[in-house]
Amino acid sequence: MTTPTIELKPSSSPLSEAEREAILASPGFGRHFTDHMVTIRWTEGRGWHDGELVPYGPLSLDPATNVLHYAQEIFEGLKAYRRPDGSVATFRPDANARRFQASARRLAMPELPVETFIEACDVLVQQDKAWVPSHGGEDSLYLRPFMIATEVGLGVRPANEYLFVVIASPAGPYFPGGVKPVSIWLSEDRVRAVPGGMGDAKTGGNYAASLLAQAEAAAKGCDQVAYLDAVEHKWVEELGGMNLYFVYGDKIVTPTLTGSLLAGITRDSLLQLAKDLGYEAEEGRVSIDQWQADTENGTLTEVFACGTAAVITPVGTVKSTRGEWQQSGGEPGEATMRLRDALLAIQTGKAEDVHGWTHEL
Ligand code: PLP
Ligand code: COI
Repeated sequence: MTTPTIELKPSSSPLSEAEREAILASPGFGRHFTDHMVTIRWTEGRGWHDGELVPYGPLSLDPATNVLHYAQEIFEGLKAYRRPDGSVATFRPDANARRFQASARRLAMPELPVETFIEACDVLVQQDKAWVPSHGGEDSLYLRPFMIATEVGLGVRPANEYLFVVIASPAGPYFPGGVKPVSIWLSEDRVRAVPGGMGDAKTGGNYAASLLAQAEAAAKGCDQVAYLDAVEHKWVEELGGMNLYFVYGDKIVTPTLTGSLLAGITRDSLLQLAKDLGYEAEEGRVSIDQWQADTENGTLTEVFACGTAAVITPVGTVKSTRGEWQQSGGEPGEATMRLRDALLAIQTGKAEDVHGWTHEL
């Protein structure tokens, strides 16, 4: 595969420093975007070409563009953090690049070379460095690489043209209100993904499939939905946009990757980090009966969700048709907070990165 160079065509009218600082004072999540974006095209027979850094702005698409009808789309999410010395680093971009390739294979799309994915992110962060929030808190610059099928036509088949784009958005906490435990609605009937489906690909369709259950959860006063497996409706899989961990004292367990849940990079990092901190960490199957019973008998001490956007978020209340219960008294648990602090310390450059996870620009 060829690696295109990315030509720099910077904006002649970026936001003023005062406007940018006003946004960075309270960025929220996914509400504001930086001055630039990177685009790279793929055409059958030609491969990847026309890599450019251009001013952030609308894409012009013919109404018959394939992605608008058949949803041939994939995306990623990763963060750039400001380090104590003012430099900037992204967290495990190579893992995102590889997952992007795996998603591309599942959606019959071309694979972007790992080094091009990383370069595209680097070029954008480098150009819009002033948008990376200052060191000290947990704010970051969230990067959203994505790829869409751009062939025009209504035939249902893999497209012969694609557009890869990276945009960036300054990000505060995904859940407003700091490290506050989230409430979970346990979906016992609606599923997010099925065996043989696309659950382990990061593609928009999985999120579209989760919206109705998410709206139902919100109507019940819950923040997020926990999905069970689609066959037995028994095994806990993940939330709509985060993986789950179950804390049994000194042991943490996360649901096994069965193909219908996403292989989270935070999830993977925590399997290692937990061991570094002296916990036992393993993958395993956790049933909904076990979740409820082990909470009631006190062996399941904490539950938390994890993902790039949400970092580590404690689970407080769980609601379901089988009743309602609380994890760790509805408060953030000790292991949850220890892992959270340790992960953020590596991501923000406060702690030594012995695993080579951070990618300095
Ligand atoms: N599961 C789903 C469905 C997600 O969308 C995400 C977010 O990316 C995750 C899990 C967590 O993955 P990661 O830790 O790589 O962000
Ligand atoms: C991420 O954590 O990067 C995600 O993609 C989750 C999304 C629901 C915001």
